[in-house]
Amino acid sequence: MEINKIAVLGLGLMGNGIAHICAQAGYEVWARDIEDKFVENGLTAIRKNLERGLKRGRITEEEIEVIMARIHGTTDIKAAVEGADIVIEAIIENMNLKKQVYGEIDLIAPDHCIFASNNSSLSIQEMASATKRADKFVGMHFFNPVPVMKLIEIIKGAKTSDKTVQVIEDLSQKLGKETVLCNKDTAGFIVIRILIPWMNSALFTVYDGVASPEDVDKAMKLGTNVPMGPLELLDYVGLDTTLHIMNYLTQELGPSFTPCPWLDELVRAGRFGRKVGHGVYEYK
Ligand code: 3HC
Repeated sequence: MEINKIAVLGLGLMGNGIAHICAQAGYEVWARDIEDKFVENGLTAIRKNLERGLKRGRITEEEIEVIMARIHGTTDIKAAVEGADIVIEAIIENMNLKKQVYGEIDLIAPDHCIFASNNSSLSIQEMASATKRADKFVGMHFFNPVPVMKLIEIIKGAKTSDKTVQVIEDLSQKLGKETVLCNKDTAGFIVIRILIPWMNSALFTVYDGVASPEDVDKAMKLGTNVPMGPLELLDYVGLDTTLHIMNYLTQELGPSFTPCPWLDELVRAGRFGRKVGHGVYEYK
């Protein structure tokens, strides 16, 4: 399938990264958020992240301008989705809101358009039920920071066609990513199902007085060669987001995902992680 126009819905951390790599790969991107200031913030973040490559000589100022010119920021959902070949949705992880948006864009997007949801744990089939194109509905889970992380998880809903999966696999390759296929539309898919208990165990290790946060992270970085320790990563992903995911996984998969009480305490204290300057650690 030929892809000319990609609509990205939601220009937060994940959405702006997705718009960035799509434009960098040569696609025309319509990047939509609900308010002008969110659109502006998203476009500013993309430019800033592209400029990281200037110092290293990986990109020129002219190339940055060409990429930025391919990204059309808008608050108008109709303009974004009309004529799109693929919609990649990266709005907040709230099922009702997502279903509302999907119901709306199903009436605007061309029949051939594929809807791909970037989300870490919600049911693909349930979101697809808000549309009349469950065969063209798929999960496309990116990782943060999107321009750097190599993986895209592809998730099949009950009715997702093999053709849709193939189109998303081909697109992922053109975006310079590797894919894995999650055959079962189950909460947490592959990565989150494994990553979340790892971070939760790290929280319990501190909560139970076994070691300090610094030593837990040092142990895992030097002992297992991961780039960030589990508590650093928790601050990076966001404690509020992680708690939300853990509660959902507990509800869907059972008590082994129950969050450590310390996480609840940190979130109640507003310690949401790097984005607010403090989480498990303090940031300047
Ligand atoms: N955009 C573009 N480039 C970026 C970037 C961004 N947002 N963030 C970092 N980079 C680039 C830097 O420019 C640098 O490039 P260079 O080596 O060519 O100069 C390179 O990435 C490394 O960055 P830094 O030197 O600033 O820092 P580090 O070497 O410490 O790497 C990191 C930072 C890439 C974030 C690394 O620590 C890492 O890989 N951490 C683990 C991240 C992870 O696990 N993410 C998954 C989270 S789970 C998730 O996203 C799922 C969701 O649904 C919750």
